[in-house]
Amino acid sequence: MDRRDFLQKSIILSCGIAGASAFLEACKKNNNTTTAPTVNFTIDISSSQYSALQQNGGYVYNSANNIIIARDHSGNFIALYDVCPHAGCTIQFDGKSTFPCPCHGSLFDENGNVTQGPATSGVKKYSTSLKGTQLNVFG
Ligand code: FES
Repeated sequence: MDRRDFLQKSIILSCGIAGASAFLEACKKNNNTTTAPTVNFTIDISSSQYSALQQNGGYVYNSANNIIIARDHSGNFIALYDVCPHAGCTIQFDGKSTFPCPCHGSLFDENGNVTQGPATSGVKKYSTSLKGTQLNVFG
């Protein structure tokens, strides 16, 4: 084993093995992996920061609260706690209706329910309300 192999294997091990084929970026973990916060905040989806929500299939993160906000294939807004209950990685959105975890393959539906493990529990779903371009996320 040369130095490069050693480093690659060490990094993969530190990411939790099961996702060895996952990209290293998928190893992004959150510090708070247990408690979804109660929130009530509003974002302006017309701002450049949230422009991904102007199209179906787009999504953004509210990193202050660990929430992923997505616009599904039908144009509905969905807000979920973005910390995977398996090992704390940040879940993503497939642009349609599923929220995959890139670390070990767990899948969550639009209600935050787990539909494929290894996660054994879902993530909190937040309510959303759109008035004009103001999207309120609460719950
Ligand atoms: S952290 Fe393992 S499936 Fe999400």
